[in-house]
Amino acid sequence: MSYLVYARKYRPKTFEEMIGQKHVVQTLQNAIKNNRVAQAYLFSGMRGIGKTTAARILAKALNCTAQDGPTPAPCNKCDSCQQIDSDRSVDVLEVDGASTRKIETIDPIRETAKYRAINSRYKIIIIDEVHMLSSTSFNALLKILEEPPPSTIFIFATTEFHKLPATIVSRCQHFEFKKITHKDLINHMLYMTKKEKIIISDLGLSLIADAAGGSMRDAQSLLDQAVAFSGDSISDEDLKEILGTISSELLFQFSEAILTEKTEQIFILVEKIMERGYDLRKFFKELIKHFRILLVIKSSQKPGDILGLNERDLKLYAEGAKDSSAEDILRYLTAMQQSEQGLRYSSHPQIYLETTLVGLCFFKKMVPLKDILKRMNELGKAFGKSYSRSHFSPDSRKKNNPPQMSISENKAEEKPKIERKKEREIDKALEDPGVKKFMDTFKAQVISAEPIKKSDKKGEK
Ligand SMILES: Nc1ncnc2c1ncn2[C@@H]1O[C@H](COP(=O)(O)OP(=O)(O)OP(=O)(O)O)[C@@H](O)[C@H]1O
Ligand SMILES: [Mg+2]
Ligand SMILES: [Zn+2]
Repeated sequence: MSYLVYARKYRPKTFEEMIGQKHVVQTLQNAIKNNRVAQAYLFSGMRGIGKTTAARILAKALNCTAQDGPTPAPCNKCDSCQQIDSDRSVDVLEVDGASTRKIETIDPIRETAKYRAINSRYKIIIIDEVHMLSSTSFNALLKILEEPPPSTIFIFATTEFHKLPATIVSRCQHFEFKKITHKDLINHMLYMTKKEKIIISDLGLSLIADAAGGSMRDAQSLLDQAVAFSGDSISDEDLKEILGTISSELLFQFSEAILTEKTEQIFILVEKIMERGYDLRKFFKELIKHFRILLVIKSSQKPGDILGLNERDLKLYAEGAKDSSAEDILRYLTAMQQSEQGLRYSSHPQIYLETTLVGLCFFKKMVPLKDILKRMNELGKAFGKSYSRSHFSPDSRKKNNPPQMSISENKAEEKPKIERKKEREIDKALEDPGVKKFMDTFKAQVISAEPIKKSDKKGEK
């Protein structure tokens, strides 16, 4: 038998086998039971979470011949079920929206939709990635949906719901498919690896689930890749290589250096990251995730429920965070998130990363600017003065009694002649009502004034 990738081999064949989409499955099954099947369905949600799978199960449920009518539990044995499973059914048409952009390609759909099913109860037209249709194709489709041919059912699937015209959406029963949770991904992979007799650690499964980001197909494909690379026994190290994941040991070394303020360690560790050829931006993302775990550990009574880590890893993280408070970790995490964008655009990412991380080492010692201002204000009040912001506002120069902004400003005589002339010019310009209005409207202030050159004057009429 030829080799089947896991995504195909483990494609659910019944509604019950579908993971994490209970709200969709239950509604569809009830509709079939109660004979309230809609004419058009729309399945939306991210890649690899079961939209096409559900569309096919629904097609089987509607056309299964094991019962007199549609059934919520297709038999998977009758001709109809088997033909749908192997893409051979003449009454179930599956098209890809991406290749149906041209109006000529939607024409056949319009044609087939007119005729009754040949061998089955229903004619079922599945359009995948329906958002890719051109506007002319949408119009043609809309016409079909306005006068739906009896016993033809449409199932549309899309990863980009927002790109669909409201006119189409309003004619469909819409189901939003959910991301598959970390826990569900891990459990399903446990089931598959047991069946396939693959040896992989809990950490390994968790790494794959992380990388899959909620997509079951991605998790299955990564598992495929790992088996191709390592054979039946997948080591954590191999997996990290495949996923390009930074080893958690290295992440712990970083968090320790930051939390215990060992700046010199930062340079050594960043050098290590560079040597191993990791992408710095990806590394920084991993470090942010690592700090998030530390924060959860510090803030939650039952971090295991949130993080889906095993006892050994939970202990490691608890140990790593034991001398820090949740508030401290939160501050680090916030600062790191704020720096992430900068790293992306920096022309010297290594230096950017080093300075950011060294900055974090000094974090506990650094006092925010607003705290310094607050402190100055308090001191000022104690001495009968206030250093409020208005001292530095652009209006202050106009006041009769200007504040002591700087020594030179106070002693106007000491300024060079040319400087004083410029100031007079600015004041004169500001007296002009037009200029004044402009300045007020845009809350502008004059930074410098240049005399109008003769050549400029000539140019204006
Ligand atoms: N909810 C799920 N339960 C179990 N397996 C799933 C689920 N979703 C996806 N899979 C697995 O992933 C494979 C691909 O799923 P499917 O084609 O249904 O995804 P999709 O949502 O249509 O993705 P895309 O938007 O990329 O077309 C399936 O063959 C199946 O093995
Ligand atoms: Mg699909
Ligand atoms: Zn059947």
